Amino acid sequence: MKILVTGGLGFIGTNFIHYWLETHPTDQITNLDKVTYAANPTNFDDYVDNHNYKFVKGDINDVALLDQILPGIDLIVHFAAETHVDRSIDDPMAFVKTNVLGTYTLLNSAKKHGNIRFHHISTDEVFGSIPLGSTAQFSETSPYDPSSPYSATKASSDHFVRAFGKTFGLPITISNCSNNYGPYANPEKLVPRMITNLIDGQKIPVYGQGANFRDWLYVTDHCRAIDTIISHGIIGETYCIGGLKETSRNIDLVKKVIKLMGKSEDVIEYVADRPAHDNYAVNWDKISTDLGWKPLETLESGLKKTIDWYVSHESWWRDSKAEAEAFYIKLNNYKNLNK
Ligand code: NAD
Ligand code: DAU
Repeated sequence: MKILVTGGLGFIGTNFIHYWLETHPTDQITNLDKVTYAANPTNFDDYVDNHNYKFVKGDINDVALLDQILPGIDLIVHFAAETHVDRSIDDPMAFVKTNVLGTYTLLNSAKKHGNIRFHHISTDEVFGSIPLGSTAQFSETSPYDPSSPYSATKASSDHFVRAFGKTFGLPITISNCSNNYGPYANPEKLVPRMITNLIDGQKIPVYGQGANFRDWLYVTDHCRAIDTIISHGIIGETYCIGGLKETSRNIDLVKKVIKLMGKSEDVIEYVADRPAHDNYAVNWDKISTDLGWKPLETLESGLKKTIDWYVSHESWWRDSKAEAEAFYIKLNNYKNLNK
């Protein structure tokens, strides 16, 4: 099979390509990535001699480039996106361009080149927020109610994907996944930011009171879920993917990482809250019951692997950490200006 992966130099795309070429070694992958701040071009340095892997630097909005790449492709797995909620508060238009217009452009090109099978990677954030104290969970039938510019653009992209399936018969599937953690995540995100701050002897900034909750999934479990949907999912269907049976409050996750790294809770620093700060929990019964998928890592085992990876890959994250922390300084200045 010939696969186009978009955004394959980012966190989940990188893990997905590694996973896929290990488990399907005769398939061929073209990785189309714009190489934004979130990409790390060294992620496939070991693949120079792998003839089943090809990298193309480019934008999913570039129709002429898509016309060159798409002939012969059997499957598109679409990860490319602007993904950081805090950056979407700072610069929403970048999210509109890639997540909405880029997804539309890619869908249109997939249709033009023979209705190519299209799997769209989406997020649980499109469903909005679960009230603090509630044990409700999002599922495939939850109404869309996005809170941030990021989730609004992901919601829009989901609607376009479904519309291309219904209107033009494009063979689509969608997955809405909860928070991932694991190797290759940009240190702007909570888990790698915590780990790298602890390595550097820095404080961990906790937004608000740390009471917001998430449903954490180890990234390889997400990759296996995508494989399951590609291989056994029903065309036109949506599958929710999550990791925990119980949600985790941010403060509990922070304390768990501090403990695993043998540090003191004195490093916790409560800071101003994110505007429209959501809570998420996912019911993943459908993919489990219908397709037989379930997560293999526990939060504890996945966090240990993740910590070990960051401890042993400092050269991978050092530059992107500096860039991320510079962004946070700018964002805090911005917040102060608007108080
Ligand atoms: P990431 O930010 O780590 O990587 C995104 C990648 O997309 C980068 O390599 C970037 O260069 C590339 N990219 C951005 N704009 C592009 C464009 N216009 N053309 C081509 N490439 C472009 O993202 P991630 O965390 O790996 O997320 C991947 C996908 O999974 C996204 O669609 C995201 O919404 C979704 N998702 C992420 C999570 C999570 O916890 N990280 C959870 C659920 C869903
Ligand atoms: O739910 C899936 C989503 O998970 C994906 O769609 C997004 O692309 C991905 O970025 C992630 O979004 P979050 O906003 O949940 O991730 P983030 O790592 O930014 O924040 C996780 C939680 O931790 C959130 O409640 C905010 C909080 N936080 C974050 C940072 C960076 C802190 O308390 N301190 C921090 O320094």
